[in-house]
Amino acid sequence: MKIVSGIRPTGVLHIGNYFGAIQNWLTLQGNAECLFFMADLHALTTDQGQDIQKSTYDTAALYLACGIKPGSIFIQSHIQEHTELAWILACHTSMGWLNRMTQFKEKASNKEKANLGLYAYPTLMAADVLLYDATHVPVGEDQKQHVELARDIAISMNSKYKHDIFTVPEPMIQKMGARIMSLRHADQKMGKSNASDYERINLLDSDELIIEKVKKATSDSFPTLPETMNELEDRPAVKNLYTIYAMSMKFTMEQTVKYFEGKNFAFLKKELSDALINVVGPIREKAKTYQEDRASVTKVLEEGREKAQIKASKMVKGIKDILKL
Ligand code: TYM
Repeated sequence: MKIVSGIRPTGVLHIGNYFGAIQNWLTLQGNAECLFFMADLHALTTDQGQDIQKSTYDTAALYLACGIKPGSIFIQSHIQEHTELAWILACHTSMGWLNRMTQFKEKASNKEKANLGLYAYPTLMAADVLLYDATHVPVGEDQKQHVELARDIAISMNSKYKHDIFTVPEPMIQKMGARIMSLRHADQKMGKSNASDYERINLLDSDELIIEKVKKATSDSFPTLPETMNELEDRPAVKNLYTIYAMSMKFTMEQTVKYFEGKNFAFLKKELSDALINVVGPIREKAKTYQEDRASVTKVLEEGREKAQIKASKMVKGIKDILKL
């Protein structure tokens, strides 16, 4: 297995990123060849004029604090082949395919004003994974469609040029935690761009802030907690809190329902904040240490860059030969 995945450095990572993607990366890194990068060129589609470099280093510090091994971490923009391959792929991607991408529709409220980078973003993401022969791409549910597009582009170019140019990647989505919802709106995804910070738990939040955010999280108007899995299905806000609890405790959903059966909301919220503090606390403290030691993070990123560069150069050279460029 060859694993490639990344996160846009557009603010502090939250538990959606952690439970939806990073936890999966941690499991995979012992058994497969892995590359994990900070997608700063993707951040440029939205965060122009902001300090993307600082967010990129802070995200690298968080990767390390979560337990991602040095040697597999690099910065996307350090490897020019990402943008070079993205152009080649763009020339082989139909507008019809891109028009189907739901994330563009969500992010670009005004299509006339949206930038071309935001529209072409899925071809850059395809380049990110095809460049390194990824077999599997561990992501949350919201990125599945983009990985499927990368598959379509790979299959179509392999067939057009009658060559196995690209490995066709598989999206790898966790059964639980693939879509953590906002703490305030159970019908919206938890995200870095939610209107209020109280909608998410960030990996740098203090214990006090976690307690406060969980206290203010929306529950529902039922008098008691659900007693069966069926009952839980009709209660999205509680289901989201249970999912977060289950992911924090490494419980199944069945165990979680059983654990809270007959208990009240105050108990649920107390248990949930304790569980989250146990997950977030150690990450936050380690991240602070890495953030203060930029020299050692720079060294890690240089090591990652060297490893990625060798693969990327080889891949692009091979493609240029096949395409007669
Ligand atoms: P990004 O930066 O929005 O999110 C990073 C990862 O976290 C997952 N995620 C979630 N999972 C569960 N619940 C949530 N609420 C939640 N919010 C985010 C995302 O699915 C993702 O796995 N385009 C990508 C970054 C990227 C990339 C790539 C990923 C660029 N190139 C190549 C994989 C391979 C993005 O914007 O993710």
